[in-house]
Amino acid sequence: MAQVTLEHLDKEYGQVMAVRDFTFTVEDQEFLVLLGPSGCGKTTTLRMVAGLEEPTRGTISIGGREVTQLEPKDRDIAMVFQNYALYPHMTVFENMAFGLRMRRYRPDEIRRRVESAAEILGLAPLLQRRPRQLSGGQRQRVALGRAIVREPQVFLMDEPLSNLDAQLRAQTRAELKSLHQRLGATVMYVTHDQVEALTLGTHIVVMKDGIVQQADTPDGLYRRPTNQFVATFVGTPPMNVLAGALETRAATLVMRLGTDTVVVPSPDRAAVQGFQSPRAILGVRPEHVHVMPHGDDIPLTGRIRLVEPTGHETLVYLDVADQSLIARADGAFRGESGQVLTVGLDPVELHWFHPETGARASA
Ligand SMILES: Nc1ncnc2c1ncn2[C@@H]1O[C@H](COP(=O)(O)OP(=O)(O)OP(=O)(O)O)[C@@H](O)[C@H]1O
Ligand SMILES: [Mg+2]
Repeated sequence: MAQVTLEHLDKEYGQVMAVRDFTFTVEDQEFLVLLGPSGCGKTTTLRMVAGLEEPTRGTISIGGREVTQLEPKDRDIAMVFQNYALYPHMTVFENMAFGLRMRRYRPDEIRRRVESAAEILGLAPLLQRRPRQLSGGQRQRVALGRAIVREPQVFLMDEPLSNLDAQLRAQTRAELKSLHQRLGATVMYVTHDQVEALTLGTHIVVMKDGIVQQADTPDGLYRRPTNQFVATFVGTPPMNVLAGALETRAATLVMRLGTDTVVVPSPDRAAVQGFQSPRAILGVRPEHVHVMPHGDDIPLTGRIRLVEPTGHETLVYLDVADQSLIARADGAFRGESGQVLTVGLDPVELHWFHPETGARASA
């Protein structure tokens, strides 16, 4: 297994800058997730690592060896695509063995590798079946098996679960996570699904328009998003963002929201003043908007637009000064549309963003 280092990678397709100045090191045995909306350059980045696209600029190293100019077959990687195609006329065993046969491995070595991968993936009883005799999840595991038998230094996976239904997807996601732990493999994994990213990744790189927005641990992304884009892309429901005017009242910096004022907590004050703007954007996650305010909370008055019970919790959609605010309440919460409600914002869980650039206040 190995480290993967990408330095100043650019990929241009004519006028389109698909990937811009991508620099990152995936540590040995790490599960690195590339996350971002459609068209942000995730697949292009992965294909450059695989050797299927040539970078316009920059270098790629795997296991300390520069591979930028090497053919895919010489890079010691295995890739699992979204649209894996199994050979319908071959058994599971033959599907997994095919790549090794092409590379002229000895039959006993092929058998050893296929049986070991089948054991890991729970496919041992299915080796003589054909793809049409398998469920979607089992087929997906055969596609993973084809990569595992290669025993590569690095696994590259591009949305490998996207063909599965929601339940199977969650199950296969969990299997993939324990598989990673057992194999001790270095993985680069592409998804646009932030839940998948948070649950699988040891580190996550968030991209937008070909540009890396933030490279961090799942916890770091969630707790300290570097800008408004990351803040609202990661988390369900997304972080609330409220735009408001700043004012100084009695030597205290506040944000006006309708008839309410939110005092900018002192640790954030200098950074928000540093925006040198008359406005700011306040970010707060739904779980930090309390329908039963705590003692130190910042009160904010809204009107309930919609109450959405989901069993163990209830999402409360509020209108606050013509803006939308979602609170995550206890499952027992009862409220009516149109009701006026004072919620409490947790003062140590507020995020402040620049009104034009969306950059986080660096408190
Ligand atoms: N062969 C190509 N020629 C021209 N433009 C391309 C080519 N391949 C990709 N692009 C463009 O590069 C950008 C990044 O594409 P890429 O496939 O990497 O996105 P992605 O993040 O994987 O998106 P998705 O989530 O939809 O798969 C897009 O704007 C896309 O249209
Ligand atoms: Mg893609």
